[in-house]
Amino acid sequence: MENLKIKSQILVESLPYIQKFHGKTVVIKFGGSTMKDKESEDSVIKDIVLMKLVGMRPVIVHGGGKDINNMLERLNIEPKFVEGLRVTDKETIEVVEMVLAGKINKNLVNKIQLENAESVGISGKDCRTLMCKKNYANGKDIGYVGMIEKVNNHLLRSLIDNDIIPVVAPIGTDIEGNTYNINADTAASAIAASLKAEKLIYLTDVDGIYRNFPDKDSLISKLTLESAKALLDEGTLTGGMIPKIQNCIESLENGIDNIHMINGNIEHSLLFEIFTDKGIGTMFTQK
Ligand SMILES: Nc1ncnc2c1ncn2[C@@H]1O[C@H](COP(=O)(O)OP(=O)(O)OP(=O)(O)O)[C@@H](O)[C@H]1O
Ligand SMILES: [Mg+2]
Repeated sequence: MENLKIKSQILVESLPYIQKFHGKTVVIKFGGSTMKDKESEDSVIKDIVLMKLVGMRPVIVHGGGKDINNMLERLNIEPKFVEGLRVTDKETIEVVEMVLAGKINKNLVNKIQLENAESVGISGKDCRTLMCKKNYANGKDIGYVGMIEKVNNHLLRSLIDNDIIPVVAPIGTDIEGNTYNINADTAASAIAASLKAEKLIYLTDVDGIYRNFPDKDSLISKLTLESAKALLDEGTLTGGMIPKIQNCIESLENGIDNIHMINGNIEHSLLFEIFTDKGIGTMFTQK
């Protein structure tokens, strides 16, 4: 009986959130870091399908750093990074595209469809969704790494309007047809801005941003635009967290008010974040 009461309380608590987000676009950055075990991946997919079934319009943008590294290792190609950004030569970009737009993208599409929702996997090349130019890291040439110049969102909009969950691999192109690897956080934030998303959620493998990583007691539950900029300037963030916070800052500046970073490896963290009153992870706000 007690159990039933708790379950019904949870459903009642979710009602205002279901109403608030009905018909709204929610962009979910599915970090490659959260795809390492089948259980957390399945739990994220189930949560996204549930979001869709209660009337939200989810869009998934995925990463895949670890799978790319594994494949490069198998092919004896050494991965290199500059300030969290991959150095991508001609040989590497072929592998990056194969892994992101092939293996990872279609695996996610397949899993969504096994939960009886429809999904289409695209890369930013399809319908020139993500148009890029070459990105330089502090003036350094890092190869086929793209900086997004324009999002053409008509393909995404038509998929969403047809009740299909789009899954986007962060690969871009330019007018000459070159292939670029784009940081998945950047792709998610640009797509969220272009679709005027109600919410942007970064699923990663840590509980949020720590002031002194990895000191568990230093988790930051809320960052304003100003404090996020100050934290970035402190220079304590490393690796993949640098582009992540830069993108949160840019998304806030682009008018997305509802940005969250949560741990995708905690089962159903996404449902918890969206449908309950309890805040988890790190939330970004304008003020
Ligand atoms: N201050 C910090 N707080 C939290 N994590 C931090 C911090 N500084 C660095 N990190 C690192 O950032 C990592 C998350 O970024 P990372 O790019 O590795 O994952 P992701 O973006 O979720 O996955 P992918 O890049 O494959 O899509 C954490 O695992 C952690 O090691
Ligand atoms: Mg990353």
